[in-house]
Amino acid sequence: MTAKIIDGKVIAQKVREEVAEEVKKMVEAGKPRPGLATVLVGDRVDSATYVRSKQKACAELGIESYGHHLPADASQQEVEDLVKRLSDDPKVNGILVQLPLPSHLNEERVLQTIALEKDVDGFHPINIGRLAQKGREPLFVPCTPYGCIYLLEQAGVQIEGANAVVLGRSNIVGMPAALLLIGKNATTTVCHSRTRDLPDVVRQADILIAAIGKAEMVRGSWIKPGAAVIDVGINSKEDPTAPKGYRLVGDVNFEEAKEVAGWITPVPGGVGPMTIAMLMKNTLRAAQIQNP
Ligand code: GUN
Repeated sequence: MTAKIIDGKVIAQKVREEVAEEVKKMVEAGKPRPGLATVLVGDRVDSATYVRSKQKACAELGIESYGHHLPADASQQEVEDLVKRLSDDPKVNGILVQLPLPSHLNEERVLQTIALEKDVDGFHPINIGRLAQKGREPLFVPCTPYGCIYLLEQAGVQIEGANAVVLGRSNIVGMPAALLLIGKNATTTVCHSRTRDLPDVVRQADILIAAIGKAEMVRGSWIKPGAAVIDVGINSKEDPTAPKGYRLVGDVNFEEAKEVAGWITPVPGGVGPMTIAMLMKNTLRAAQIQNP
């Protein structure tokens, strides 16, 4: 069997076009242009790259972006003051605090400072708490897990009643992905570094979301025939034949898994482009809520 490839680039592009169209309609109707504030603290190269990509996406879709960059030694008070100011600024509809923050900062207290209706990353403790509870709707869902579920739905994968396995329990991906799957009535197992007999657990999965950050750890022999495999990992692997001496691979061994799975996302070009697309979708919704 050869898996159907779920093309995240195509699906993300469609989401972006839909958002751009809605932004255009809002502006034509005389409403303020949606705005996203980004907060970057410190000089992590990966974080700076992500923030730049988010600002570029805003520009392409007609969303204003307001970039804020604080030094790596910024105090808790300085970061919270900035986030409070953005929470009170009517031009700003969404606030994105790029994570991780430098280790001297209390992340939870910073996230708690974001106005709930501007929490486009869905990391405010109240939004996450609502995601974890039955019958309570968060205002926003974290972008990468939202993208994973969106890909499954667009591919026509049945989530309700499926056995879902999530590899990884991070605050940003694994845990919210598991909560979303539970909310959609999948029987959900979360695996982590202490899980026993991991390949056997993964073999039960009709849906596998891999978010552990270990290059090609999941082998083809772990995959249930016909399963839907969503690979969140972005790892660099040495490859002397590649122009840069390395290439990007996921947490799943793609060549092996595609022979067994029913659906699979490639790396790059699977989940990656979805994170920003869903952030744009959340930002549009924030603007629609704030300027009905
Ligand atoms: N760091 C890694 N992924 C994300 C994300 O989706 N949002 C934020 N704010 N930080 C991240």
